[in-house]
Amino acid sequence: MILYFSGTGNSRYIAQLLSEYCSDELVSLNRHMRQRRLEPYTAQYAFSSETPFVIVCPTYCWHIPKVLEEFLLDSRFLGCREMYFLLTCGSGTGQAARHAEEICGKLSMEFMGLTAVLMPENYITLFRAPEPDDAVGIIRAARPQVENIAQQILIHHTIRDSYAGPAMPAPLYKLFYKLFVHDRRFRVKDSCIGCSACARLCPMANIRMRDSRPVWMGNCTQCQSCIAVCPVDAIEFGHRTRGKRRYYLFANGLQKFPNEKPRPQEPSAGRDTGK
Ligand SMILES: Cc1cc2nc3c(=O)[nH]c(=O)nc-3n(C[C@H](O)[C@H](O)[C@H](O)COP(=O)(O)O)c2cc1C
Repeated sequence: MILYFSGTGNSRYIAQLLSEYCSDELVSLNRHMRQRRLEPYTAQYAFSSETPFVIVCPTYCWHIPKVLEEFLLDSRFLGCREMYFLLTCGSGTGQAARHAEEICGKLSMEFMGLTAVLMPENYITLFRAPEPDDAVGIIRAARPQVENIAQQILIHHTIRDSYAGPAMPAPLYKLFYKLFVHDRRFRVKDSCIGCSACARLCPMANIRMRDSRPVWMGNCTQCQSCIAVCPVDAIEFGHRTRGKRRYYLFANGLQKFPNEKPRPQEPSAGRDTGK
């Protein structure tokens, strides 16, 4: 079972490819995580599979995203005991493999390894997204890597991280979340058309529409989905994002190019059961 969390579509795209190569079920964790926020008192999620569980997600600060870690630890995994992690990253995964192994330990799952594929950088509230042509090249290069990884998973081989880096001291990791992972500087410009794409896609259910304008509710994981998917680029994060290109990869593999009309709905890929 391939389970993905994705802010701007990279990890969803990679998960879709993996699901095709492995002929395995694809499950959007975005939907579940969103649902969990909207209805916190619902029963614990249980995922059941006879094939290995593969968690596909972005790298956040050289780790597995904290919100995903929390969701996984709050879920149950039934059937197969093997768990793989496939990360997407802009440059490196640091100590994500160690982090993933810890998560598996807490879940009593067998850690089968973590590996990563390079995808376009999406973190525009701190950095810059690549030029569209460069992004296309990066996305193309990912396909054969995913095919390779699928072959390893199909024969239950352990996998290793080719983008691993040094460990990050815990205080630095905490500081990163404190300084950068918040929504206090998001604002919307007058050009907002009130389409609510940002609110509908937020995996944290952190955006409410008031008077046809988004309002951020203080529970943000900086996934970049709102700022990236806005069809008129009306969302900014302080002054940091002014004039910067937004990056979003749709479920059909098309990037959001400037002036392209987006299709802002949570995708349902062929085999995505929406579980
Ligand atoms: C909050 C945040 C932290 C990130 N940290 C890292 C990182 O430590 N290393 C890295 O290579 N990329 C990092 N990135 C880039 C993303 O991991 C990368 O672009 C990923 O493919 C985005 O996947 P998604 O579109 O599925 O959300 C970060 C992005 C965000 C939004």
